Amino acid sequence: MIYTVTFNPAVDYVVHTDNFSLGTVNRSEGDEIYFGGKGVNVSFVLRELGVKSKALGFIAGFTGEAIEKSMREHEIETDFVKLEKGFSRINVKIKAGTETELNGQGPEVSQGDIQKLFAKLAKLQDGDTIVLAGSIPNSLPSDIYEKIMERLQNKNIRAVVDATKDLLMNVLKYKPFLVKPNNFELEEMFDVKFEADEDIVKYAGKLKEMGAQNVLVSMAGDGAILLDENGNIHKCGVCKGKVKNSVGAGDSMVAGFLAGCDKGDYEYALKLGTATGGATAFSDGLAKKELVYELIKQL
Ligand SMILES: Nc1ncnc2c1ncn2[C@@H]1O[C@H](COP(=O)(O)OP(=O)(O)OP(=O)(O)O)[C@@H](O)[C@H]1O
Ligand SMILES: [Mg+2]
Repeated sequence: MIYTVTFNPAVDYVVHTDNFSLGTVNRSEGDEIYFGGKGVNVSFVLRELGVKSKALGFIAGFTGEAIEKSMREHEIETDFVKLEKGFSRINVKIKAGTETELNGQGPEVSQGDIQKLFAKLAKLQDGDTIVLAGSIPNSLPSDIYEKIMERLQNKNIRAVVDATKDLLMNVLKYKPFLVKPNNFELEEMFDVKFEADEDIVKYAGKLKEMGAQNVLVSMAGDGAILLDENGNIHKCGVCKGKVKNSVGAGDSMVAGFLAGCDKGDYEYALKLGTATGGATAFSDGLAKKELVYELIKQL
């Protein structure tokens, strides 16, 4: 089973308007609601690709209930810790030519809630996969990814970590199965600027030396580079299409990669990840499988 962990799931309220000006009443010309948070996105996209997962993390209030309900309606198993106070955050995204975001903070997570999450994670078994994605809300200890990996280290569990800076660096010693920084995040980790693909390969290689089994560096419209656990380097371009929304492309790539590597063929996993990331970039919401399988033919 693949378990995804989302510390701060969100309701995204997307509003379209022709003109947006501060300090006046603005009217929406169309609006949509999406449920997200990185782990939640990975679960939705895995489901779309026919792969089962169970979503863990913290939810609260009516927004938390809505997130869980939507996931269950999509036949995704959930086992969230329900927080007593507050509500899962709402992110407002105003699309008016340019894009303005106002992201909510999210509920307070107590020490007791963290213990409840650890109890759920204790049920993971050999052969399971855990996806740890996104930043850590302020109310959680900043070493929580490490704490989770430490607890799982005696089991044969594949960990996927999509996080930045120290959050990612500090878990490498637990030999995660996959890490997926984008090129800017990788630059930031080593305080360097990339000029050519060789630089990316070099620094992705450092993450491998530090413990990661597979390192996938995504580069948005410029494709991706994978250093796989067998020592092979794969480069993949991107699919062509009209970009509508690139948010969640990275999460979709992780889902596609995981769905694809069941076959043990990393070249294929990279292609499925690329097509899935592209399908999200070319859609208003997350990738749909019809588009993914259409796009993969381009690669
Ligand atoms: N404009 C684009 N055109 C085609 N494919 C894209 C585009 N943007 C993203 N993709 C696909 O999705 C993959 C992941 O995108 P990206 O590098 O933007 O991830 P990310 O920065 O982690 O995104 P996020 O964290 O916002 O989800 C890319 O490697 C590519 O295959
Ligand atoms: Mg990302």
